[in-house]
Amino acid sequence: MDKLVIQGRRPLRGSLPVSGSKNAALPLMAAALLADGVTTLQNVPTLRDIKTFAHVLRISGASVKPDPERHHMTIDASRIDFPEAPYELVKKMRASFYMLGALLGRCGQARVSLPGGCAWGPRPVNLHIEGIKALGAEIDLDGGYVVATAPGGRLNGGSYRLEPSSVGATINIALAAATARGGSRIENAAIEPDVVEFCQALEKMGARLNGIGTRTLEIEGVEALRPITFRNSPDRIELGTFMIAAAIAGVPGEPVRLTNANPDHLGADFIDAFRRTGAVCVIGPDYVEVTAPQTLQPVSITTGIYPGFPTDLQAQWTVLLAQAHGSATVTDTVYGDRFNHIPELNRLGARAMVAGNTVEVEGGHVLKGAQVMSTDLRASVSLVLAGMVAEGETHVLRIYHLDRGYERLEEKLANAGIEIERVPYDEFAQPEPHAA
Ligand code: UD1
Repeated sequence: MDKLVIQGRRPLRGSLPVSGSKNAALPLMAAALLADGVTTLQNVPTLRDIKTFAHVLRISGASVKPDPERHHMTIDASRIDFPEAPYELVKKMRASFYMLGALLGRCGQARVSLPGGCAWGPRPVNLHIEGIKALGAEIDLDGGYVVATAPGGRLNGGSYRLEPSSVGATINIALAAATARGGSRIENAAIEPDVVEFCQALEKMGARLNGIGTRTLEIEGVEALRPITFRNSPDRIELGTFMIAAAIAGVPGEPVRLTNANPDHLGADFIDAFRRTGAVCVIGPDYVEVTAPQTLQPVSITTGIYPGFPTDLQAQWTVLLAQAHGSATVTDTVYGDRFNHIPELNRLGARAMVAGNTVEVEGGHVLKGAQVMSTDLRASVSLVLAGMVAEGETHVLRIYHLDRGYERLEEKLANAGIEIERVPYDEFAQPEPHAA
């Protein structure tokens, strides 16, 4: 197991490139299974979650070839003959549950492990299952697996209203509906950029969709889809994370440039809150330039579905608030108990208190380096951000969480002036007793 060692208080300077989006690439990979042939995806990040999902696709019979140098991936789905997603992989990454819709759409049957809990809460998949049932699938639960069958080999199609709106369920239902015999409708569909990109890819593959990017998504089933070449979008959460990094660790008056980005995907609420902190951001077509202010203002945020403030950026926002002059709150309405990073940030000297689904942060206290432990993907990057502004040395442990979703993070930060190093670490080694 590795850890990151960060010498704090080094200024962030120059530029940071944004990698391809993890959450947008995963549904594109699932969609490739619907086409008999070779799909090529471009701008695919090299990440643990992407590798895990590539393996899930291979179990079903697909041949998946990543080309990490060019960030391409080819998926040959000519032979999908084992419609199953095993527990060993689904438990590692919940998005593997996309196999339910993809395999049903391609093979008319699927056996997919239920994902179980997650580090910060139950995260149910009831909407995925009920939505797919509404399309005509027969569903049984067997030994922790969802076993789904399309009577007669193809789903009929149908309507389903998502309550609450769900990114994953919208994608899963659309995957199953694209090759149904009839039409389907998803009401209160998610309109996150990842969903919109995925729908555009499906359309390019020959699917018939109406209402892309609106709350009512209609899908007229077609017999089969064709393979395509598709460019994955930049990671909006990585962009937001880097904007926060530049605001807290940049040199006031000196812009930091974030490149290969798609600023439109961040949503209005994040940009608005960011500007109210006093940080200056200049938004270009594929870049953002952030200039840190002399003093950060405390700005309270509440997460919401797109274009609301992304829940995937709330942990990082807490670190920004810890640097601000005054108190403010972070409220998560999407995942009400996603706060495992708070006790770790407090070990560094932050003053943050959780009450219900809100964290109150009293800013302006000096952070001091310590050993801290990652508990999930976004929590881990918030600890890296905190280490960058803390006095002295911070050790961030269990960074396998970070490696799920941030590509070469330490290399990118080191190129921009941060003193950060990945070192091997034996978490189970016992401290030596003091010699008498
Ligand atoms: C996706 C993202 C994740 C992000 C989240 C919210 C991926 C791989 N993951 O997760 O990073 O934090 O969107 O933007 O893209 N819900 C149910 N029943 C269901 C499904 C969801 O009640 O069957 C609830 C959830 O508990 C949550 C809300 O719906 O409160 C939204 O979750 P959802 O949009 O489904 O998140 P994911 O797709 O799992």
